Amino acid sequence: MIGDLQDAVHRCWDRTAAFYGQAGPPILSISAQRLLELSSLEPGDRLLDVACGTGAVAIPASKQVGPSGQVMATDYSPCMVAEAEREAKRDGLSNITCVCMEAQTLEFPDNSFHALTCGFALFFLPDMRRALAEMRRVLVPGGKLGLSLWGKGGIVPQWPILGEAIKEYGLRPVVPNPIAWRPEDIEALLTSAGFSNIEIVEERYDFSFREASEVWEFTLSVGPIEVMLARLSKNKRQEFIDAFLSHIQELANAEGIPANFRVLYVVAKRGTDR
Ligand SMILES: C[S@@+](CC[C@H](N)C(=O)[O-])C[C@H]1O[C@@H](n2cnc3c(N)ncnc32)[C@H](O)[C@@H]1O
Repeated sequence: MIGDLQDAVHRCWDRTAAFYGQAGPPILSISAQRLLELSSLEPGDRLLDVACGTGAVAIPASKQVGPSGQVMATDYSPCMVAEAEREAKRDGLSNITCVCMEAQTLEFPDNSFHALTCGFALFFLPDMRRALAEMRRVLVPGGKLGLSLWGKGGIVPQWPILGEAIKEYGLRPVVPNPIAWRPEDIEALLTSAGFSNIEIVEERYDFSFREASEVWEFTLSVGPIEVMLARLSKNKRQEFIDAFLSHIQELANAEGIPANFRVLYVVAKRGTDR
């Protein structure tokens, strides 16, 4: 049952690849740039970007580490990997390799990378502790980890509506971990996974979506929502979407539909061996 659900989530990310990051405000690309700034990569660094999606972090990172550096971009969705590869080719980058790989089982020897990034993906991994142990294992001692996560307290219009729908329609959440994080919770998780020098920066971004349908497209592109809705009949599903759009429309003001995102950027080091 759990395996079926995870397979469905995996296939959903494949479908998402074609429109990932394209709808709504540019929060994903802005956050990717900021994550890289805070991770302070250096020319010549070997970087692993885990759950790279279409390359929001990996592509600019490969420019930052320069021709003497190397970026390995991995994601378990072949369609995401293909999009990242296409993007790298378009930019003429020769120091990036994109490969299909499960984040909880990294197929690299110990001590392979100077730095590792994972943008908006840790919480999607069913076994985050195992994934963090793998991330730690492939970093060199003192190597840098950079994560971005959604912070708690943001007012993203779709979240309360989805929360209510889960109750009203008897849906099952498909992501096993919290989607929004408090700094102290991610700090505790990283400490227990053997990371040290943990620095957390929380930033707020105010944007407007142009219209309700854009909120829906954005929502579909950043998480496996379709898997959750798949339990509904065709009619119920349409009823859900119509209700979603009309709730969102009620929030509209002169600029559109307001959203304030909070993002947690976490930078840490692989601590010494225990
Ligand atoms: C919200 S996207 C983030 C993409 C990119 N890092 C970014 O910052 O825009 C989440 C990504 O995690 C990937 N993913 C989810 N579960 C995974 C797993 N178990 N192993 C590897 N990749 C996974 C999905 O395929 C998707 O590309």
